[in-house]
Amino acid sequence: MTDLYAVIGNPIAHSKSPLIHTAFARDFHQDISYERILAPLDKFRETVDAFRLRGARGANVTVPFKFEAYEYATKLTERAKASGAVNTLRFDGGEILGDNTDGIGLTRDIIENLGVQIADARVLLLGAGGAAFGVVGALLEQRPSTLAIANRTHEKAAKLVAKYSDSVAYAITFADLLRQQFDIVVNATSASLSDELPLISPSNFAPNSLAYDMMYGKGDTAFLQLAKRTGARAADGVGMLAEQAAEAFFLWRGVRVKTASVITMLSQG
Ligand code: ATR
Repeated sequence: MTDLYAVIGNPIAHSKSPLIHTAFARDFHQDISYERILAPLDKFRETVDAFRLRGARGANVTVPFKFEAYEYATKLTERAKASGAVNTLRFDGGEILGDNTDGIGLTRDIIENLGVQIADARVLLLGAGGAAFGVVGALLEQRPSTLAIANRTHEKAAKLVAKYSDSVAYAITFADLLRQQFDIVVNATSASLSDELPLISPSNFAPNSLAYDMMYGKGDTAFLQLAKRTGARAADGVGMLAEQAAEAFFLWRGVRVKTASVITMLSQG
């Protein structure tokens, strides 16, 4: 019997998840079908209920439903609890397991695919919205020497840091930011969507640093262009996209897939 999965969001037409999971299933001999479901903005719960009635085994959840998916789950992984958002659901009979694979997707791409150590590195995270919330726990798990979080609205960065009070994370003001250098700078703002630059200056990039834009499919964003001009290495979020999907696939199927061919496929557009 073919097992049924989907990605649920609004909008959803642009989602690459069907392409990715279909490629994983083909390469690793898993009998699954994977669809896109557009949920009306006020009908997330009803949409997932209906999908489960069709015998579905799991779903990915994307913008703007990650917080509702957190509420919908009957059981949460530790990392989902920590981030307060869910991007992966697994349906086991009456139980609905909620997980969040975004953070591990980011750290796996940085460490394993890009070969950059987060341990002992000075890390700067730009942004304090949903995308940033989803990755702080995973970044801290890698034991960076510091994790500075800068946000246009400083109070939101302070609120995010407060969730990790016993850690090396701190909210940095833009005045302080001017004086500091980082080994890894992660852009988790949505500034790249409108081709804007988050507040960052060339002096923030240490020699041999990595600039990582969690956005993908936008070519070199204003952030990556600035980083490159300073000599930093630049990466977009394609690898993170593939790795978060691979971790969801593992949760559903118990199979660890290799992401290299999917990353190549996605990078070629
Ligand atoms: P997401 O789920 O993509 O994180 P979000 O929760 O709306 O979306 O958060 C967007 C983040 O990008 C916020 O940190 C936002 O900063 P504010 O909290 O000050 O709004 C940040 N952001 C969006 N556009 C930006 C811009 N042009 N420059 C800097 N930061 C920006």
